[in-house]
Order: sequence, then C-alpha cells, then structure tokens
Amino acid sequence: MSKEISLAEVKKHNKSEDLWVVIEDKVYDLTKFLHEHPGGEDSLISVAGRNGTREFVDVGHSQEAREIMKKFLIGNLAASDIKKPSVGGGK
Ligand code: HEM
Repeated sequence: MSKEISLAEVKKHNKSEDLWVVIEDKVYDLTKFLHEHPGGEDSLISVAGRNGTREFVDVGHSQEAREIMKKFLIGNLAASDIKKPSVGGGK
C-alpha cells in the first residue's frame, strides 16, 4: 500500500486528464478530484506533475480537506527524491 514513486514518475502525470501531485512527500492522483475541488481546477493544474506542498499549505486547507485527500493517496515519494533542495531546478 505504501508504494514508492519517484519524482520523475510524478512528472509524467502533469495534465488535467492525468494529474498527480506531491504534497508533504506523499503522491496523490487528483485526476478524479479535479472537477470537485472547491478551490477550482486551475489551482490543481498549476501544480500538476510536481511538488505542490507549498501551495497546499499556503491555502491553509481545513481538516476536512485533509480527510478528503486520503482517498487520493497512491504512494510515497521515493526516499531518494525527498529533501532535495528544490523541485524547480533544471527542466
Ligand atoms: C488532495 C489535495 C487537495 C484537496 C483534498 C483539497 C481540498 C480543498 C477543499 C475541501 C477546499 C475548501 C476549503 C477547505 O476545506 O480548506 C479547498 C480550497 C482551495 N484549495 Fe484545495 N485541495 C487540495 C489541493 C490543493 C492544491 C495543491 C492547491 C494549490 C495549488 C489548492 C488550492 C486551493 C484553493 C486556492 C482553495 C480556495 C481557498 C479559498 O476559497 O479561500 N488545493 N481545497
């Protein structure tokens, strides 16, 4: 149940029809949640295929939001991709 998923793999799922996001070192498949997100589709699309932790936390999501997100958890970010200094460097 705790599958390890690399950041390189997450990056492949970067569009609205196939949308994965990393939040707090966990990987979520938000494809089916996109149209239901109270914060709109655009905010999720803007972090598609990458680490959206900062954006998620900045919104100050409720406890209810944290309950909902559990349903979309698909794995953990691979240990080798955790604590890298940046997610935006390079390509
Ligand atoms: C699994 C991931 C997520 C879930 C389950 C989720 C769920 C929710 C829920 C339930 C709300 C309503 C307000 C609340 O209960 O806090 C909300 C609002 C919002 N979310 Fe998300 N969200 C997720 C990820 C994100 C991400 C990654 C972003 C930004 C890139 C984002 C941006 C927003 C914004 C801008 C609002 C509107 C806040 C407002 O109206 O003031 N959400 N989200």
